[in-house]
Amino acid sequence: MEKRELLYEGKAKKVYATDDPQLLIVAYKDDATAFNGQKKGTITGKGVISNRMSNRLMARLEWAGVPTHFVEELSERETLVKRVTIVPLEVIVRNLAAGSFSQRYGVEEGVVFDRPTIEFSYKNDELGDPLLNSHHAVALKLATPEELETIQALSFRVNELLKEFWSQCGVTLVDFKLEFGRLTDGSIILADEISPDTCRLWDAKTGEKLDKDRFRRDLGGVEDAYAEVMRRLTEHDAQ
Ligand code: TMP
Repeated sequence: MEKRELLYEGKAKKVYATDDPQLLIVAYKDDATAFNGQKKGTITGKGVISNRMSNRLMARLEWAGVPTHFVEELSERETLVKRVTIVPLEVIVRNLAAGSFSQRYGVEEGVVFDRPTIEFSYKNDELGDPLLNSHHAVALKLATPEELETIQALSFRVNELLKEFWSQCGVTLVDFKLEFGRLTDGSIILADEISPDTCRLWDAKTGEKLDKDRFRRDLGGVEDAYAEVMRRLTEHDAQ
Protein backbone atom coordinates (compact mmCIF):
# COMPACT_ATOMS: atom_id res chain seq x y z
CA MET A 1 0.00 0.00 0.00
CA GLU A 2 1.52 3.27 -1.08
CA LYS A 3 0.95 6.46 0.93
CA ARG A 4 0.11 9.39 -1.33
CA GLU A 5 -0.88 13.03 -0.72
CA LEU A 6 -2.16 14.55 2.50
CA LEU A 7 -5.92 15.02 1.99
CA TYR A 8 -6.92 16.51 5.30
CA GLU A 9 -5.44 17.52 8.62
CA GLY A 10 -7.78 17.57 11.59
CA LYS A 11 -7.23 18.35 15.26
CA ALA A 12 -6.00 14.88 16.19
CA LYS A 13 -5.35 13.10 12.88
CA LYS A 14 -3.98 13.44 9.38
CA VAL A 15 -5.59 11.61 6.47
CA TYR A 16 -3.62 10.50 3.39
CA ALA A 17 -4.68 9.11 0.03
CA THR A 18 -3.27 5.76 -1.08
CA ASP A 19 -2.82 4.13 -4.46
CA ASP A 20 -6.21 2.46 -3.89
CA PRO A 21 -9.08 4.98 -4.31
CA GLN A 22 -11.18 3.01 -1.80
CA LEU A 23 -8.60 3.18 0.99
CA LEU A 24 -7.05 5.93 3.12
CA ILE A 25 -4.29 6.09 5.71
CA VAL A 26 -5.06 7.79 9.01
CA ALA A 27 -2.12 9.06 11.09
CA TYR A 28 -2.77 9.89 14.75
CA LYS A 29 -1.07 12.93 16.33
CA ASP A 30 -0.31 13.78 19.96
CA ASP A 31 -2.08 17.14 19.57
CA ALA A 32 -5.07 17.69 21.82
CA THR A 33 -7.72 20.37 21.63
CA ALA A 34 -10.86 21.04 23.63
CA PHE A 35 -13.78 23.46 23.57
CA ASN A 36 -13.81 23.66 19.78
CA GLY A 37 -10.08 24.24 19.54
CA GLN A 38 -9.89 27.07 22.10
CA LYS A 39 -7.70 24.98 24.39
CA LYS A 40 -4.62 23.44 22.81
CA GLY A 41 -1.96 21.09 24.09
CA THR A 42 0.04 17.94 23.58
CA ILE A 43 -0.56 14.59 25.22
CA THR A 44 2.69 12.68 24.70
CA GLY A 45 2.03 9.20 23.34
CA LYS A 46 -1.69 9.85 22.77
CA GLY A 47 -1.49 9.17 19.03
CA VAL A 48 -0.06 5.72 19.59
CA ILE A 49 -2.66 4.84 22.23
CA SER A 50 -5.63 6.21 20.28
CA ASN A 51 -4.53 4.37 17.14
CA ARG A 52 -4.07 1.02 18.87
CA MET A 53 -7.14 1.32 21.09
CA SER A 54 -9.41 2.40 18.30
CA ASN A 55 -8.21 -0.44 16.09
CA ARG A 56 -8.67 -3.10 18.74
CA LEU A 57 -12.13 -1.86 19.63
CA MET A 58 -13.21 -1.56 16.00
CA ALA A 59 -11.90 -5.07 15.26
CA ARG A 60 -14.01 -6.33 18.16
CA LEU A 61 -17.09 -4.47 16.94
CA GLU A 62 -16.57 -5.76 13.41
CA TRP A 63 -16.32 -9.29 14.78
CA ALA A 64 -19.65 -8.71 16.57
CA GLY A 65 -21.31 -7.60 13.32
CA VAL A 66 -20.90 -3.82 13.39
CA PRO A 67 -19.48 -2.60 10.06
CA THR A 68 -16.46 -0.30 10.56
CA HIS A 69 -13.87 1.47 8.43
CA PHE A 70 -10.98 -0.45 10.03
CA VAL A 71 -8.82 -2.42 7.60
CA GLU A 72 -5.30 -2.87 8.97
CA GLU A 73 -2.91 -1.31 11.49
CA LEU A 74 0.18 -0.21 9.55
CA SER A 75 2.36 1.12 12.36
CA GLU A 76 2.03 2.46 15.88
CA ARG A 77 0.42 5.66 14.59
CA GLU A 78 -0.94 4.72 11.16
CA THR A 79 -3.93 2.69 10.06
CA LEU A 80 -5.44 1.73 6.74
CA VAL A 81 -9.17 2.49 6.64
CA LYS A 82 -11.99 2.33 4.12
CA ARG A 83 -12.65 5.62 2.39
CA VAL A 84 -16.05 7.04 3.33
CA THR A 85 -17.96 10.26 3.01
CA ILE A 86 -18.44 11.33 6.60
CA VAL A 87 -22.04 11.95 7.70
CA PRO A 88 -21.60 15.38 9.36
CA LEU A 89 -23.07 14.31 12.68
CA GLU A 90 -21.49 13.63 16.04
CA VAL A 91 -23.49 10.85 17.66
CA ILE A 92 -23.24 10.81 21.43
CA VAL A 93 -24.43 7.89 23.55
CA ARG A 94 -24.54 8.23 27.33
CA ASN A 95 -24.97 5.72 30.14
CA LEU A 96 -24.34 8.15 33.00
CA ALA A 97 -24.79 11.89 33.30
CA ALA A 98 -21.58 13.87 32.69
CA GLY A 99 -20.16 16.78 30.75
CA SER A 100 -22.55 18.83 28.65
CA PHE A 101 -25.54 16.69 29.69
CA SER A 102 -24.94 17.49 33.35
CA GLN A 103 -24.44 21.17 32.57
CA ARG A 104 -27.42 21.54 30.25
CA TYR A 105 -29.94 19.72 32.42
CA GLY A 106 -28.51 20.46 35.89
CA VAL A 107 -27.86 16.81 36.74
CA GLU A 108 -24.96 15.78 38.93
CA GLU A 109 -22.18 13.89 37.14
CA GLY A 110 -22.37 10.15 37.76
CA VAL A 111 -26.16 9.74 37.87
CA VAL A 112 -26.85 6.40 36.15
CA PHE A 113 -29.61 6.35 33.51
CA ASP A 114 -32.24 3.59 33.41
CA ARG A 115 -31.47 3.29 29.69
CA PRO A 116 -28.87 4.88 27.46
CA THR A 117 -29.54 8.22 25.74
CA ILE A 118 -28.56 9.31 22.26
CA GLU A 119 -28.10 12.78 20.82
CA PHE A 120 -26.76 14.30 17.65
CA SER A 121 -24.65 17.39 17.01
CA TYR A 122 -24.15 19.00 13.64
CA LYS A 123 -20.43 18.57 12.88
CA ASN A 124 -19.68 22.19 12.02
CA ASP A 125 -16.82 23.99 13.79
CA GLU A 126 -17.97 27.46 12.67
CA LEU A 127 -21.32 26.91 14.39
CA GLY A 128 -19.72 25.19 17.39
CA ASP A 129 -21.22 21.74 16.68
CA PRO A 130 -24.80 22.64 17.68
CA LEU A 131 -27.10 20.00 19.11
CA LEU A 132 -29.90 18.92 16.74
CA ASN A 133 -32.60 16.28 16.54
CA SER A 134 -33.12 13.75 13.74
CA HIS A 135 -35.80 15.92 12.08
CA HIS A 136 -33.33 18.80 11.91
CA ALA A 137 -30.70 16.46 10.46
CA VAL A 138 -33.15 15.45 7.70
CA ALA A 139 -34.18 19.08 7.06
CA LEU A 140 -30.49 20.00 6.68
CA LYS A 141 -30.06 16.98 4.35
CA LEU A 142 -27.27 15.63 6.53
CA ALA A 143 -28.76 12.14 6.39
CA THR A 144 -31.97 10.37 5.32
CA PRO A 145 -34.46 9.08 7.90
CA GLU A 146 -33.40 5.52 7.00
CA GLU A 147 -29.73 6.36 7.53
CA LEU A 148 -30.54 7.93 10.89
CA GLU A 149 -32.38 4.74 11.92
CA THR A 150 -29.32 2.70 10.97
CA ILE A 151 -26.98 5.11 12.78
CA GLN A 152 -29.08 4.99 15.94
CA ALA A 153 -29.36 1.19 15.96
CA LEU A 154 -25.61 0.76 15.33
CA SER A 155 -24.76 3.32 18.03
CA PHE A 156 -26.82 1.53 20.69
CA ARG A 157 -25.33 -1.80 19.60
CA VAL A 158 -21.82 -0.31 19.89
CA ASN A 159 -22.74 0.91 23.37
CA GLU A 160 -23.84 -2.55 24.51
CA LEU A 161 -20.67 -4.16 23.17
CA LEU A 162 -18.25 -1.52 24.49
CA LYS A 163 -19.99 -1.20 27.88
CA GLU A 164 -19.58 -4.96 28.42
CA PHE A 165 -15.99 -4.95 27.19
CA TRP A 166 -14.90 -2.01 29.36
CA SER A 167 -16.66 -3.43 32.39
CA GLN A 168 -14.51 -6.56 32.01
CA CYS A 169 -11.51 -4.18 32.21
CA GLY A 170 -12.79 -2.55 35.41
CA VAL A 171 -13.83 0.59 33.52
CA THR A 172 -17.23 2.30 33.40
CA LEU A 173 -18.17 3.52 29.93
CA VAL A 174 -19.85 6.82 30.82
CA ASP A 175 -20.43 8.22 27.32
CA PHE A 176 -18.81 8.46 23.91
CA LYS A 177 -18.98 10.10 20.51
CA LEU A 178 -19.20 8.22 17.21
CA GLU A 179 -19.03 9.28 13.60
CA PHE A 180 -20.37 7.34 10.64
CA GLY A 181 -19.58 7.37 6.94
CA ARG A 182 -21.04 6.21 3.64
CA LEU A 183 -19.27 3.81 1.32
CA THR A 184 -19.70 4.35 -2.43
CA ASP A 185 -22.60 1.83 -2.41
CA GLY A 186 -24.38 4.04 0.13
CA SER A 187 -24.01 1.68 3.08
CA ILE A 188 -23.34 3.19 6.50
CA ILE A 189 -20.27 2.13 8.48
CA LEU A 190 -18.64 3.29 11.71
CA ALA A 191 -15.70 5.64 11.04
CA ASP A 192 -13.42 8.08 12.92
CA GLU A 193 -11.99 6.76 16.22
CA ILE A 194 -12.90 5.29 19.59
CA SER A 195 -10.33 6.40 22.15
CA PRO A 196 -9.94 8.24 25.47
CA ASP A 197 -10.32 11.42 23.37
CA THR A 198 -13.84 10.43 22.37
CA CYS A 199 -15.09 8.42 25.36
CA ARG A 200 -15.50 9.09 29.06
CA LEU A 201 -13.91 6.17 30.88
CA TRP A 202 -14.03 6.02 34.67
CA ASP A 203 -12.34 3.51 36.94
CA ALA A 204 -15.22 1.25 37.98
CA LYS A 205 -14.15 1.16 41.63
CA THR A 206 -12.79 4.62 42.37
CA GLY A 207 -14.56 6.70 39.70
CA GLU A 208 -11.20 8.14 38.69
CA LYS A 209 -11.32 9.77 35.26
CA LEU A 210 -9.18 7.91 32.71
CA ASP A 211 -9.90 10.02 29.62
CA LYS A 212 -9.57 13.43 27.97
CA ASP A 213 -11.51 15.17 30.76
CA ARG A 214 -8.15 15.18 32.61
CA PHE A 215 -6.90 17.50 29.84
CA ARG A 216 -10.15 19.48 29.39
CA ARG A 217 -10.39 20.17 33.13
CA ASP A 218 -6.65 20.49 33.93
CA LEU A 219 -6.75 17.55 36.33
CA GLY A 220 -3.15 16.47 35.62
CA GLY A 221 -1.97 12.91 35.02
CA VAL A 222 -3.30 12.92 31.46
CA GLU A 223 -0.57 10.69 29.96
CA ASP A 224 -0.81 8.25 32.87
CA ALA A 225 -4.58 7.96 32.47
CA TYR A 226 -4.30 7.18 28.75
CA ALA A 227 -1.57 4.62 29.48
CA GLU A 228 -3.68 3.05 32.23
CA VAL A 229 -6.77 2.40 30.08
CA MET A 230 -4.54 1.07 27.31
CA ARG A 231 -2.81 -1.23 29.79
CA ARG A 232 -6.16 -2.61 30.94
CA LEU A 233 -7.31 -3.21 27.40
CA THR A 234 -4.04 -4.96 26.49
CA GLU A 235 -4.17 -7.08 29.64
CA HIS A 236 -7.74 -8.10 28.87
CA ASP A 237 -6.83 -9.06 25.30
CA ALA A 238 -3.86 -11.11 26.52
CA GLN A 239 -6.07 -13.29 28.73
P1 TMP B 1 -20.05 16.20 26.13
O1 TMP B 1 -20.55 15.77 27.47
O2 TMP B 1 -19.03 17.30 26.19
O3 TMP B 1 -21.16 16.50 25.18
O4 TMP B 1 -19.26 14.96 25.51
C1 TMP B 1 -19.88 13.71 25.35
C2 TMP B 1 -18.87 12.69 24.83
O5 TMP B 1 -18.44 13.00 23.53
C3 TMP B 1 -17.59 12.60 25.66
O6 TMP B 1 -17.25 11.23 25.80
C4 TMP B 1 -16.55 13.31 24.88
C5 TMP B 1 -17.02 13.16 23.47
N1 TMP B 1 -16.76 14.33 22.64
C6 TMP B 1 -15.93 14.20 21.52
O7 TMP B 1 -15.42 13.13 21.22
N2 TMP B 1 -15.73 15.31 20.74
C7 TMP B 1 -16.27 16.52 21.01
O8 TMP B 1 -16.04 17.48 20.26
C8 TMP B 1 -17.13 16.63 22.17
C9 TMP B 1 -17.76 17.94 22.51
C10 TMP B 1 -17.33 15.52 22.93
